[in-house]
Amino acid sequence: MDDLKKDAGWENGMAEKLYRLADAARGNAYVPFSGFSVGAALLTADGKIYTGVNVENSSFGATICAERTAFVKAISEGEREFAAIAVSAGDVQESLPCGICRQFMYEFAPDIKVITGTSADALSIRTLEQLLPLGFRLEK
Ligand code: THU
Repeated sequence: MDDLKKDAGWENGMAEKLYRLADAARGNAYVPFSGFSVGAALLTADGKIYTGVNVENSSFGATICAERTAFVKAISEGEREFAAIAVSAGDVQESLPCGICRQFMYEFAPDIKVITGTSADALSIRTLEQLLPLGFRLEK
């Protein structure tokens, strides 16, 4: 947690703020098949925040998770440096990023902090390295 506060764009209460934004974004989730709405709030290294939601599809396989939606929005606006991402599925369960999202995030932000929980009052903060040890990435 202390390391987090040294990051650019980080301020007191940032984890809680990101979580609340992720939770609020869930209102826009498109989840006619699972009914499981997920929201994400992605903090860039220079302090901008992009939200995302899961968008399901009749083909199932074309469904995109909230985390990747947030990343794709940010990347397509030119962002490349990321500090943290919060994920909320409401108070039903702590929602950790799926394996595809872990790999997707690893491409851009192997050191990103991942904030999860069922309430802004009791958050867990892990590094992506904890969630995806020894991830794959082509050296550029
Ligand atoms: N989902 C996410 O949005 N993020 C994850 O990391 C896990 C799963 C979504 C996909 C699908 O729309 C719903 O949750 C149920 O799997």
